[in-house]
Order: sequence, then structure tokens, then C-alpha cells
Amino acid sequence: MTADQEKKQAALEAVKYIKNNMVVGLGTGSTAKHMIEAVGKLVADGMNLTCVPSSIATEKLAKELGIKIVALDAIDKIDVTIDGADEFDGKFQLIKGGGGALLREKILAWNTKFNIIIADSSKDVNKLGAFKLPVEVIPFATKQILTYLEAEGLQPLQRMQGDASYRTDENNTILDIDISGIDDLQGLEIQLLKVPGIVETGLFLDTTSLIIVGKEGGPEVKER
Ligand code: A5P
Repeated sequence: MTADQEKKQAALEAVKYIKNNMVVGLGTGSTAKHMIEAVGKLVADGMNLTCVPSSIATEKLAKELGIKIVALDAIDKIDVTIDGADEFDGKFQLIKGGGGALLREKILAWNTKFNIIIADSSKDVNKLGAFKLPVEVIPFATKQILTYLEAEGLQPLQRMQGDASYRTDENNTILDIDISGIDDLQGLEIQLLKVPGIVETGLFLDTTSLIIVGKEGGPEVKER
């Protein structure tokens, strides 16, 4: 099975958790894209769903598929959010934000009753950190935060788009840092979020209820 087939299999399994009249959070990325297309089919088949997108790209795709989109402040709680991940470990801890949507994704996850992560099998790791952790930073403070993270030994790299610094949907920058040598992820999260100008990190440590992994022979559903 290719990685993309695994992503699609996980996505199709995940949408089975969506029921009529739910408020659904829509993730971002190549795995989430399969899920959004499957949600589009549910809606086309007559299911009544209200969806909250985690990025401009997801909102655009959802609208093209005829999915009803609302802003987060138009609802109280999201019933279920389905999103991808760059890495997950056995404790249901994730690195997200490879696609740059970590801020809205984390806000959605925080405001969701039941978070499902869908992934191909390459995302399953023993220890987080082979993938660089995205840290979203306001442009005004980016240089100073880069210097700080360097001094902390986290080897930050400013994410670029061509010759310009990459900008998120919120017009912030992203610094990708190396956390492969770090064991205390809770401590790291607290340390980073104390720095003025760091808006959010791509560490999702305790939001996920279910992880569905595409696999040869059928999806693996991991419950927390
Ligand atoms: C978007 O910012 C990310 O958090 C994605 O959910 C994550 O990068 C997974 O992306 P893929 O599904 O494309 O691997």
C-alpha cells in the first residue's frame, strides 16, 4: 500500500464517527484532504453537518464540495474533529504543523469533544522529534526568538517560501526546531509558550482521543 492509500483508508474509517447534525472540525493537509472529500460525499448523500475549517485551504476545498462552513465563534463546541499529524507516539502525543496550520488546528482541537487523528503508518514513532517541531511566531519578534532558540540548542530554521519567510494564515512566521534530544515535552511546551512572541507550538500533548492508521489488511484504530 502506498502512503496515500493508507491516508485515504484512515480517512474513510474516521468519517464513520460522524453522525447526522454534528458540528465537525476539518483538519488540514494531504491526509485531511481525503477526509474532507469523504465528508463532502456524506453531505451530498443528505447528511446535515456544520463544519469548522482549520485553514483557508481547507475552507476553500470544503466550500467547493458543498460543505456548510461556519466560524468557530458561531458554535459552542465541536463534536468531532478529524485531522492529520506529522508524528504521533504511543502516548498519543503529536507533532503537527508541517502544513503551517498548527494554530487554528490547536484551537479546534481544544474546542472539540472528540479528536480523531488520521495518518499513514510512517507517522507512528517511538519518540517524537525526527520531524522538526513547528513553532509559530509573530514577525515582530522572529529574529529575537530565533536567537533565543539557538541559544537553547534547538537549532531553529526559519521556514521559507521561495526567497521570503513563510507566512501562516494569521500572517505569522514559523521556526522549525529540533526536539529530538528532549524527553520532557510538557516542560518544553511550558518553556516555549512563556516566550513573548511565540504564539503556539505544534506539540499536541493531550487532546487526541483516537488515532486511526492506514495499514495493509485494514485500518488500525488506537484508543487512548
Ligand atoms: C497542517 O499544518 C498539519 O498539522 C498537518 O495536519 C500535518 O502536517 C499532516 O499533514 P499530512 O497529512 O499532509 O501529512
